[in-house]
Amino acid sequence: MCVFTDLEKKKKLQKFEKKLVKISKVLREIVPFEAEMQTENIVPPTVGDQADCTKINTCHVDEFLYDDKEVDELVQKGKLSRFYCVECNSRNCKELIFISHSMSTQMLQYIFNVLLPKDLENKQILDVGSRLGAVLYGAYYFSNVSTIIGVEMNKECCDIQETIIKKFAMDTNRIKIVHSDIMKRSDIVQCSNIVVINVLDFFVDIEKHKEMWYFFKKNIKCGSYLITNRSMVDTLTSLGIFEDMLDWLTICKCSQFENEIYFDIEDYKDLHVYIVNK
Ligand SMILES: C[S@@+](CC[C@H](N)C(=O)[O-])C[C@H]1O[C@@H](n2cnc3c(N)ncnc32)[C@H](O)[C@@H]1O
Repeated sequence: MCVFTDLEKKKKLQKFEKKLVKISKVLREIVPFEAEMQTENIVPPTVGDQADCTKINTCHVDEFLYDDKEVDELVQKGKLSRFYCVECNSRNCKELIFISHSMSTQMLQYIFNVLLPKDLENKQILDVGSRLGAVLYGAYYFSNVSTIIGVEMNKECCDIQETIIKKFAMDTNRIKIVHSDIMKRSDIVQCSNIVVINVLDFFVDIEKHKEMWYFFKKNIKCGSYLITNRSMVDTLTSLGIFEDMLDWLTICKCSQFENEIYFDIEDYKDLHVYIVNK
């Protein structure tokens, strides 16, 4: 009986995963290979755990578009290299840093099937900087959350998300894209019960990044969930604003503990869920 339930659950998780894989295949056709738009100014950060990234040693491979197996295949086919030569013709090669600006389908499964509560009816989720829309599609297919909003400052990214929403006939009363700097939309932040913030370091300079966290502290309402893919202690410490944020957040345990067995927790150790205290 228990084995049967486990299999059923696993099948259910896989069914929705297939939908996201379909979306990622369509996206591959419409975005550049590195999934970085011409209109973007993506700059390696100078502080934090990604400060070792430079334009030379870093390669962007979007995890939502290509999973680990597909990356291996791309490497085998010679379409992607894991190394760069620091001295031509020598064997003195260095490993490239692979960086993804989107969350993978597996991470999204973990967020909606393990970290957050199962019932999200009447709740609103906000993805800050929704880019290709990965988090939004995850919310749409993996949860029953009532309102899904992506705020993205890059117009090309917004257009791509609109294309996907239309192509997959998603309910536009439920999922919405807003083209804006998040700091101009405090109204949306204040009404959200779940706020997802993927690492922003490549997209904003240090001063703007600090301002954004003060803005989130002021506007995310008490009792909301904050989901990040790096510990807030690390983010705030690297920006030198940890002291100002003490008591703002409490790290919380996953809500759907029973589903943890379907995941290799080690792969999701960067994902954090917090409750906003005040
Ligand atoms: C790391 S990507 C996150 C993508 C997506 N949330 C995910 O996890 O798959 C960060 C995105 O945030 C956007 N962004 C950065 N600062 C922003 C701001 N102030 N307002 C709106 N979008 C912003 C960038 O353009 C970029 O597309």
